[in-house]
Amino acid sequence: MCGIIGYTGSDSAQARIIEGLRKLEYRGYDSAGIALVEEAKKPLLIAKRAGKLANLEEALTKESRASAGIGHTRWATHGGPTDMNAHPHADETGKVAVIHNGIIENYLELKHELEIRGHKFKSETDTESVAFLLADELKKTGNLASAMRAICKRLKGSFTLLAVDSDNPRIIVGARRNSPLVVGVGKGENYLASDVSAFIAFTKSALELGQDQVVEVSPEKVEVTDLDGRIVTPHAYEITWDSKAAERGGFKHFMLKEIYEQPKAVADTLLGRIKGEKVELAELKDIKIDFERILILACGTAFHAGLIGKYALEEWTHTPVDVELASEFRYRKPVLSNKTLVITISQSGETMDTLMALRHAKSLGATTISICNTIGSTIPRESDAVLYTHAGPEIAVASTKALLTQIIAIYLIALNFGERKGIKLPNMTGELLELPNKIQKILETVEPLREMTRGYKDATSVLFLGRHVGYPAALEGALKLKELAYMHAEGFAGGELKHGPIALIENGTPVIAIVPPASSEIAAKMISNIEEVRARGARVIAIADSSFNLEIPEIIRIPKSHELLQPILSIVPLQVFAYEMSLLKGNDVDQPRNLAKSVTVE
Ligand code: G6P
Repeated sequence: MCGIIGYTGSDSAQARIIEGLRKLEYRGYDSAGIALVEEAKKPLLIAKRAGKLANLEEALTKESRASAGIGHTRWATHGGPTDMNAHPHADETGKVAVIHNGIIENYLELKHELEIRGHKFKSETDTESVAFLLADELKKTGNLASAMRAICKRLKGSFTLLAVDSDNPRIIVGARRNSPLVVGVGKGENYLASDVSAFIAFTKSALELGQDQVVEVSPEKVEVTDLDGRIVTPHAYEITWDSKAAERGGFKHFMLKEIYEQPKAVADTLLGRIKGEKVELAELKDIKIDFERILILACGTAFHAGLIGKYALEEWTHTPVDVELASEFRYRKPVLSNKTLVITISQSGETMDTLMALRHAKSLGATTISICNTIGSTIPRESDAVLYTHAGPEIAVASTKALLTQIIAIYLIALNFGERKGIKLPNMTGELLELPNKIQKILETVEPLREMTRGYKDATSVLFLGRHVGYPAALEGALKLKELAYMHAEGFAGGELKHGPIALIENGTPVIAIVPPASSEIAAKMISNIEEVRARGARVIAIADSSFNLEIPEIIRIPKSHELLQPILSIVPLQVFAYEMSLLKGNDVDQPRNLAKSVTVE
């Protein structure tokens, strides 16, 4: 939530920052702003505009000469998306400016104190207090980094902060607590950013910052300290993503590109982890398997990955599995022990609720594993072990390829633990390795679905039905449609129909039904559910493999697979349905309204 970039070097700071913001816009896109150090000791050049980044670009009528500055793309929390509330926020002299991702929880108390000291607030944000606090502190020392360290001690909540000060014209200072910040180390130039996509086109050398650390960068130097000013050596790493991976590459939207990347993403997540009939996960070798219970914690689409994974995890490890929304878990008093294994799932590795739930679980003695797509992010760093998915950067706000690889990762864990526990398992590795080809086949034959989607454009509500692993797949289908098409959509378990949802069916109600393979014990039950809704006038689109001879006019065929693997296939047409519907409605596919990719606030 909120994209942040800082640049100091010899190139045009304006150009680098705008370029970086374009890459970060998926993190928040209701307003954008920039502060550039044009001249030492003079007010900064600050421009900020409500709306998309294009509005800010329009406001910047001429290219600045500045070679240091900071930029922000916002997802509003405190104060609506207006020009005034957009970041950066500056002090009265206009010489010190701050951008922020997160929430300063004690801002009202700080604001009160600052008003007594004579500061006049112009915005409704929590961030403006930080700008005034920093400027006051700076008057005492003249050193931006030590002023930042001092004020961070007074801030409560979560933050990534970047600041510039024209008295220290070549320096940018950053600080982080619970929100993401990485350093991009270039030659004669350095970057600070929310994630590596902002600078990957210019450097692939990065530094990870820890909790409560402050970083000072000039073009030549990066210095990281804790809040007491003690020098810390940050973890350095090379980014393996190709900068092209974060570009649309000929596709109309990132989401479409990411849907079509799924065969490769799944293959990459499996790569090197299957040895014959066995699953080998070197990353998890130190995790003891004597746990009595597994708890999966996640948010959004990653939560659906957990719900799907539960079936295989229980079946293949003979261990009870619960799946819970991280946002609910963190405020409960759950009963956990050192015999509980907690698996967090997060594409970004930065989702605040998942991070807090992880910390809560750790404090209660659980062993923790994370399934994550972003190397070096906070959640894997704070877990006992991590299994990275190798989906590559996911830029579209609606998650697609990350989900399929998260399900694969859970299945790999389930098989690996089952083997280690000596449980007799079905031979699944061959089936897993066939998945990329099967997904590819769906993508090659998905055209009729695009046509079908048109017929549902004016529906006011779409229902999704599934059973067993098809049930969480139905939940995901509904979530995608809400996110992208802004349509009312609900996912139901087939067995629950008669307990209420069937009352929603009237003539023409669209129902998308996920049909299990014919071999499944619940296949016949699902067919009965389809007939029940059809008898009441529903228009059904069935997603089924070729083992069924259904008498339904609209069927999307998917390749045959093991029942537990079916969601990895059945979800693909659901993604395409939501994508097409979004296009038909004229919505912003990659940046749907009110949403952000990485939810780094509660
Ligand atoms: C946001 C995104 C979703 C994502 C969820 C969890 O809501 O829009 O696509 O599933 O966050 O994100 P994570 O990075 O933790 O997987």
